[in-house]
Amino acid sequence: MTRFTISLIIVGFMFVQLSNAEIDPQSIVGAWLFDETNGKVAQDSSDNGNDGNLVGGAKWAKGKFGNAIELNGKDAWVTVPEIGPLEDFTLMKWFNSTGRVGLWRCFFNRDGWAPGFVHYQFRPDNKMEMAIHSNNPVRHPGWPDSDFTADKDILDEWFHLAVAYSSNDEEVRVYFDGELDAEGKWGPLPGAFGPGRIGSWSGGGREWEGLFDEMLLFDVALAEDDIQMLMDNGLEATLAVEPAGKLTTNWGEIKLGRTQSR
Ligand SMILES: *[C@@H]1O[C@H](CO)[C@@H](O)[C@H](O)[C@H]1NC(C)=O
Repeated sequence: MTRFTISLIIVGFMFVQLSNAEIDPQSIVGAWLFDETNGKVAQDSSDNGNDGNLVGGAKWAKGKFGNAIELNGKDAWVTVPEIGPLEDFTLMKWFNSTGRVGLWRCFFNRDGWAPGFVHYQFRPDNKMEMAIHSNNPVRHPGWPDSDFTADKDILDEWFHLAVAYSSNDEEVRVYFDGELDAEGKWGPLPGAFGPGRIGSWSGGGREWEGLFDEMLLFDVALAEDDIQMLMDNGLEATLAVEPAGKLTTNWGEIKLGRTQSR
């Protein structure tokens, strides 16, 4: 096969995949693409104004799509304003972990710990935990008998994690690199994300060491297809091929111009 034919096949495949998109931009609660190159604000690319603020040694670095946020595992995180409670949600991101294996390491934790608060983190046993205070604790993803374990093999590489939850259906699904890894009945509380921190917890000692990119929060439990599309293409490219009808009403609300990094 010639190179040209191969390219055509690849383009054709991408088109088919992308045209299945059913992501409604209005379901985006926060989209931290971390594409800035300077400054102390991690812009929320949705119209919800959930901009993050860089704290301590948080800095911009090369990411999976454009730039990423790099945290040092000590005094660096990104604060987010009040978000939620959300009855249904999907939270996903690309991450590159560079240390602190065997310690608590936060992806995204609501400040404090009280009914309805989300704590989404790696546990000291290196399992991913998605906890909502006062939801059935024994069944939450990451409880000691959970299937999902991240060990030191994940160090220094980019991986994608997504959690889709519906308090209405009392169901949770965990996707690792776009593949369903674990699912279960879990509920019934909505989850509150902010005020909170990306890469840390207000209680201290749980800082992330490494990078995050394309941290996306939706107020729906997305299907596997949608999660894979966002994982593979990033938010900007995924929304760019949305069916016109859906897009025209919402496009103006999504601030995807990466003016600072291009
Ligand atoms: C992960 O991050 C570290 C620290 O910035 C970097 O050295 C490494 O190359 C990254 N891994 C990948 C696969 O980009």
